[in-house]
Amino acid sequence: MGVVGIIGGSGLTRLNNLQIHNRRVVRTPFGEASGPLTFGDLGGQEVVFLARHGYGHTIPPHRVNYRANIWALHHVGVTHVLAVAAVGGISAALQSGVICVPDQLIDYTSGRPGTFFEGGESMVVHIDFSEPYCGRIRERLLEGAKVSGVGVVDGATYAATQGPRLETIAEIRRIEKDGGDIVGMTGAPEAVLAREIGLCYAPLSLVVNPAAGKSSEPITMEAIDAVMHEGMERVRAILASTVPL
Ligand code: HPA
Repeated sequence: MGVVGIIGGSGLTRLNNLQIHNRRVVRTPFGEASGPLTFGDLGGQEVVFLARHGYGHTIPPHRVNYRANIWALHHVGVTHVLAVAAVGGISAALQSGVICVPDQLIDYTSGRPGTFFEGGESMVVHIDFSEPYCGRIRERLLEGAKVSGVGVVDGATYAATQGPRLETIAEIRRIEKDGGDIVGMTGAPEAVLAREIGLCYAPLSLVVNPAAGKSSEPITMEAIDAVMHEGMERVRAILASTVPL
């Protein structure tokens, strides 16, 4: 199996079970990635790690250079990407603390550079995106969860919003009507670009708060951080059991 890339989101700016070999800044035609790529060994598998929001968590979701990140991972030989993200929970089964392996995506983002194919010399290309995520990695994540004894929900529709603000209650109602189960700010165009460039990509999502209107409590960063801290430990355990792919 090829080289595995892991994109870490909020709460996962480093993998403490990764044996780091070196870091490398990759120049891309699209500008700077979120940071240098971290090369290391996770349970005997060569892994390339990238913190989506930067290693100091300074890049908000709408400013992430998704094209540079995906291009850089592909450029160094990554073939498979595990994409970790914190999300809000919408459907009843997806309460705070639940980890899920989404199988569908709705893109509500706007104004983000979302393709490698801008026309002209880089051609007009329409990729098949009926199934937005790589079945092989989804399967491996589900097996990895089983092996590590961490419960996960198999399948969810990820709704990608623009952020950085959280949603209104009416927006979440609309997303729910549309079929969205979880809501996050980074799932698009990351998954689109991965497909365009030929990477096998799948997300692993940790629910860190009830989405707007799904709880009588206000959404606070303190509550999110508490869930995130504990939940990302379980995410790390799943990742360690998922590789080698
Ligand atoms: N909405 C959007 N993105 C998120 C949320 C949310 O409630 N929680 C974590 N990321």
